[in-house]
Amino acid sequence: MTDRYAVIGNPISHSKSPLIHTQFAYQTGQDLSYEAILAPLNGFRDTVLTLRDEGCRGVNITVPFKFEAFQLATRLTARAQAAQAVNTLKFDGTEIIGDNTDGAGLVADIERNLDFTLQGKRVLLMGAGGAAYGVALPLLNAGASITVANRTEDKAHQLAALFAVHGSIQASSYTALAGSQFDCVINATSSSLADALPPLPRGENAKRGEIFAPDALAYDMMYGKQSPFLLFAKEQGAARLADGLGMLVEQAAESFFLWRNVRPDTAPVIAKLRLI
Ligand code: ATR
Repeated sequence: MTDRYAVIGNPISHSKSPLIHTQFAYQTGQDLSYEAILAPLNGFRDTVLTLRDEGCRGVNITVPFKFEAFQLATRLTARAQAAQAVNTLKFDGTEIIGDNTDGAGLVADIERNLDFTLQGKRVLLMGAGGAAYGVALPLLNAGASITVANRTEDKAHQLAALFAVHGSIQASSYTALAGSQFDCVINATSSSLADALPPLPRGENAKRGEIFAPDALAYDMMYGKQSPFLLFAKEQGAARLADGLGMLVEQAAESFFLWRNVRPDTAPVIAKLRLI
């Protein structure tokens, strides 16, 4: 019998998850279906429980339901607990297991696909909202030393305080970053959605690379449209630029593994999505 999976969000029509998981299933010979489901803003819980009662095996969760999914889970993985958000649910008897594969997806994309080792690297994490919480622990576990900067500085301090037990992490304002250099700068703000740029100090001479160390990687977790941050990073001399498409496919692969215990090959799927 075909096993059923889905992604739940609002809005959801833009989601690439059905395409990705369908390709994973085809590639690995797994007998499953995967659909996109629009949940009413006040109807997330009912939507999930109905799907479960219908025999669905697991779901991905996207905006704006990741915190509700965190609350709904009866058991949480350590990384979901740390992120305080859940993007993957697995139905296991009466248990609803909540996981968060976003950070693992980011780390896999940076380390495996972009061949950039995070161990011992200075990472600037911009943003202190849901996206930043989702990736902080996996970045620390990969050995990165994180500076988190946020427009509302208090939130950067809160994030750093929460994760300090897991590794090297400190908070900063954007202005206090002047004069510092980073090996990897990650945009986990929602600024790119509004065609805006986080207020990074601007080097006067691009070659000076005020924020971006030589060989620095600039990574925008957003994908699909031109990122003001990546344009800025290029102008400021960042050696390498990456958008979040690889992370999207890698977090999906991590969910697929949780559900099916099989690791799909992500490279052909990323390549295919680049062409769409
Ligand atoms: P998400 O789940 O995408 O992280 P969120 O929890 O609403 O969404 O958080 C959005 C993040 O983007 C916040 O860190 C926000 O900064 P504030 O806490 O100061 O609001 C950040 N952000 C949004 N627009 C920004 C901009 N133009 N410049 C800098 N940071 C921005």
